[in-house]
Amino acid sequence: MTPHNHAQPGDYAEAVLLPGDPLRAKWIADTFFEDAQLVNSVRNCLGYTGTYKGKRVSVQASGMGQPSLGIYVHELINVYGVKTLIRVGTCGGLNAKVKVRDLVLAQGASTDSAIVRDRFGPYNFAPIADFGLLRAAAAKAEEKGMRYHAGNMLSSDIFYHADGFAGYDKLPDHGVIGVEMEAAALYTLAARFGVRALTICTMTDCLITHEEINADERQTSLKDMVTVALDVAIEA
Ligand code: HPA
Repeated sequence: MTPHNHAQPGDYAEAVLLPGDPLRAKWIADTFFEDAQLVNSVRNCLGYTGTYKGKRVSVQASGMGQPSLGIYVHELINVYGVKTLIRVGTCGGLNAKVKVRDLVLAQGASTDSAIVRDRFGPYNFAPIADFGLLRAAAAKAEEKGMRYHAGNMLSSDIFYHADGFAGYDKLPDHGVIGVEMEAAALYTLAARFGVRALTICTMTDCLITHEEINADERQTSLKDMVTVALDVAIEA
């Protein structure tokens, strides 16, 4: 037990999905798990363990942003022994080739976050996905006939920039395809503690073309994304 998590050791499976939104964690447990048990509700940041296709798996909400995700992920790894962490979320698009509803597999995660920068002094660390998870997710997406892109994500600490688009234009110029707020901290913690991590996002709003997903499309796309993540998690 920790100040943020009342689960007991052993309550989480070795593989955990990480949506930002607690109600999405509940929706994943209700929709996809058999025998779902609530394992954490501190701050309403819900966590569940159940089975999917007969294999034990968990979901834990991470909250929004890298400071929040960092707390849950640190504890999942170091207190609860979690070995595989798959973030499932949404991202903004930074490349016109990435259409709304497309999956973005964050192969790498660039960031403006001091959480990553301050660990490495003069070095620029490159947070990356676990290759096995990335390869498995790409294969699952292909099998299911889903449009996907694997590339560099921006994990930003800021949603509402004071000066609008800020330096974002340089990032698409260097091949960054999406923006979200968690992957870089997830990958850095996974690297530090020797576990595996991947971020899978559905692109919901393109910052280049201003195309946006509608509510129905959002639900279908989330379902597709979670299916990919769960299929990867139980094979991991
Ligand atoms: N910025 C950060 N995170 C996001 C965005 C965005 O534009 N869209 C979806 N998640």
